[in-house]
Amino acid sequence: MNHTVVTYHDLVRATDNFSNDNLLGARSFRKVFKGQLSTGLVVAIKVLDMQLEEATRSFDAECHALRMARHRNLIKVLNTCSNMDFKALVLQYMPNGSLEMLLHSDSRGHLGFHQRLDIMLDVSMAMEYLHHGHYEVVLHCDLKPSNVLFDENMTAHVADFGIAKLLLGDDNSMISASMPGTLGYMAPEYGSLGKASRKSDVFSFGIMLLEVFTAKRPTDPMFIGERSIRHWVHQACPSKLSSVLDNRLLQDATSSTCDLNDFLSPIFELGLLCTSDSPDQRMRMSDVVVTLKKMKNSYAKSTSAAL
Ligand SMILES: *[C@@H]1O[C@H](CO)[C@@H](O)[C@H](O)[C@H]1NC(C)=O
Ligand SMILES: *[C@@H]1O[C@H](CO)[C@@H](O)[C@H](O)[C@H]1NC(C)=O
Ligand SMILES: *[C@@H]1O[C@H](CO)[C@@H](O)[C@H](O)[C@H]1NC(C)=O
Ligand SMILES: *[C@@H]1O[C@H](CO)[C@@H](O)[C@H](O)[C@H]1NC(C)=O
Repeated sequence: MNHTVVTYHDLVRATDNFSNDNLLGARSFRKVFKGQLSTGLVVAIKVLDMQLEEATRSFDAECHALRMARHRNLIKVLNTCSNMDFKALVLQYMPNGSLEMLLHSDSRGHLGFHQRLDIMLDVSMAMEYLHHGHYEVVLHCDLKPSNVLFDENMTAHVADFGIAKLLLGDDNSMISASMPGTLGYMAPEYGSLGKASRKSDVFSFGIMLLEVFTAKRPTDPMFIGERSIRHWVHQACPSKLSSVLDNRLLQDATSSTCDLNDFLSPIFELGLLCTSDSPDQRMRMSDVVVTLKKMKNSYAKSTSAAL
């Protein structure tokens, strides 16, 4: 974090008085603007609505969670500006959109199998660092594709620690969360009992993994009642997995010389393991990283051997 002070007026100047032209996104009590500091650096500026008490809590959570967090796959907080009635975070700017846009917007480019593996490996490494890199554990609590952003090199960065929680203790520790995560991505025990743990982050990661390879949101209207995205993938396992795979990857599979089918079971099984109903059955993030690295290596080997 840069300890030079950024004032309110610096940020007014950087964002042309928080003009709508510079608005990157708005959610309940926060707006994110693109801005250019007097040094020329382009940044994202997250401004919190101080009328609301939860905004202050969110600001504190994000500052606290990110103060010690430095990782290639996390958004960097460059500076903060905090007065009685104005609070803002100055963040590393991500020019290449979110995973949500990449997967679901009409203008999306083609996203190959190995790129999707890379993205999920990036995200898992950020989460491993948060879960196992310190004495204090950081729970993200709102992992989903719109919170995974891309820099100019398409390296994925996990963003938005507005409801993050700090946890002390062993694998099984839990904490009561005061704010809910996002429907579709929340683990059952988090959604119904408000209990957040490393394993509830792993669940969200698993749902995102299923979404990345099926290109179906967990909130898609086709998933109703008992039929969740997890259930849908599970019933296709292991012999009908190409029926749940993103169509665009199916084209890859028929045109490429390597047999994508060999990789479908491992990737979907990983997603299913991470989304087990019982937290105890879900993997640890550090094991997810190991598994994804192995998969990436063997996919690279099989594509190069086939050439
Ligand atoms: C941090 O401070 C240095 C020295 O004052 C300045 O050159 C640099 O642009 C600053 N970075 C940010 C992100 O404000
Ligand atoms: C910025 O906009 C606010 C209204 O949104 C206005 O009251 C204020 O004078 C403006 N400040 C500058 C420096 O233009
Ligand atoms: C990042 O996005 C820009 C335009 O939005 C695009 O031209 C560029 O190719 C992207 N970078 C990568 C590495 O995909
Ligand atoms: C993108 O890659 C280039 C070349 O490797 C590097 O210089 C640059 O710092 C990278 N950008 C980011 C945001 O990491």
